[in-house]
Amino acid sequence: MTDLGEVVVLPHTLVDEIRNESKLSFPSANMQDFHGDIPGFEAMSQFANDSLLLEAVVRKQLTKYLSQVMEPLSAETTHALAVNIGDSQDWHEITLKPTILDGIARISSRVFLGTQLCRSEDWLQITKAYTINLFVAAGKLRMYPRPLRRFIHWFVPECKKLRGQFGEARRVIDPVIAARREMRQAAIRKGEKVPYFNDALDWADEEASAKNISYEPAGFQLMLSVAATHTTTDLLVQVMIDLAQHPEFMDMAREEIIRELRNNGWKKTSLYNMKLLDSIAKESQRLKPISLAAMRRRATADIKLSTGLVLKKGTRTIVDIFRMRDPEVYEDPEKWDGSRFVKMREQPGKENQSMLVSTHRDHLAFGHGVYACPGRAFAANEIKVALCHLLMKYDWKLAPGTDIKPMVIGAANGSSPIAKILIRKRKTVELDIDAL
Ligand code: HEM
Repeated sequence: MTDLGEVVVLPHTLVDEIRNESKLSFPSANMQDFHGDIPGFEAMSQFANDSLLLEAVVRKQLTKYLSQVMEPLSAETTHALAVNIGDSQDWHEITLKPTILDGIARISSRVFLGTQLCRSEDWLQITKAYTINLFVAAGKLRMYPRPLRRFIHWFVPECKKLRGQFGEARRVIDPVIAARREMRQAAIRKGEKVPYFNDALDWADEEASAKNISYEPAGFQLMLSVAATHTTTDLLVQVMIDLAQHPEFMDMAREEIIRELRNNGWKKTSLYNMKLLDSIAKESQRLKPISLAAMRRRATADIKLSTGLVLKKGTRTIVDIFRMRDPEVYEDPEKWDGSRFVKMREQPGKENQSMLVSTHRDHLAFGHGVYACPGRAFAANEIKVALCHLLMKYDWKLAPGTDIKPMVIGAANGSSPIAKILIRKRKTVELDIDAL
């Protein structure tokens, strides 16, 4: 019995059997658990129609854009760090999570919404607050029997707040969409080149009209925020906490960053070659995944598993993630070892399961199979670019006595929301990352 109601926990031995099982649906689980059919929860209604549009935008368009993404990510990271951390060479204290959340909201918005909206304070407020409130409102509404929810939500304060936030998102996004559509029509009328902004606003519009899907642009952008912003923030915060406890890895990572960026600049290959940085992030994710269970699904028809277990239509399932701390898989599994996955890459046959973006039954933090996170390559790039800036520009350590314990609510396993660090701008910088 969980905060989602009754859930069948499947053992990891079934992961490979169920990972591509079409009758176990992630979009259907999301629609049900996060009330995709109720006003205010429009972000989750993107999971209707088997998340066709989300898939097309994230898996196809964002992935296509990855080779060009480093420079805009880097430019916006420079701005985000200047705004949030500044230039002081004296140790000063910051609360890590809100600082990094603001940074990631800015950096992700640069790619999703383009240069015009990524610095809109109105949008940044919404993108940060909507997700938090969505989870709170969804939990409150789940306390009522399902048939009552479509009426009772009108009276639940958190749901009212969510509807208000959705309305604010529309006030920011809709005029931009309308202006862009008008510009395109005007260009077509005049026989001029049709303007293209190459961001998620354009990708969604393009894919929706190509696939004849009607969609809600603000809801779609909020879904991207829900999927991308807090998840990426969560991992980056955990990596920073872990690095603060293992400063020797900060120095080793700096050497790798300097070598790669000096040789190749902001190229896809530079990030690929930062194998230690990749391993550090994957190790932090192994020991503190964002959820204590993986691969949440809902059976869309009766299904019989090889063990003889029958899952009735409507059953919710999750998979246990014990393998991520199993001593049979990971030596000394409770220890954080930043180079664990660099070493694993060297073992024959294990190279492809040891990268941050790899999914495997022994590491389920990005899920696995047909619904595995389609944004993970982008998230990996964003986290690595942010770490390049943070490590080259700053020193940090944990503030004395700070609480770094993850915050567990239901199966959610977030990095500490209250951890504080002491941070200062480095006096000697081996590589001017902003001049690349
Ligand atoms: C460190 C950051 C991230 C983590 C830990 C994460 C984790 C996950 C997980 C666990 C799932 C469910 C997979 C499954 O059950 O098999 C998922 C799905 C998804 N993620 Fe991510 N994610 C991250 C970043 C992102 C980003 C940056 C984007 C968008 C650019 C994104 C877009 C999505 C989408 C659209 C889905 C739904 C896929 C579907 O319905 O088929 N995620 N993510």
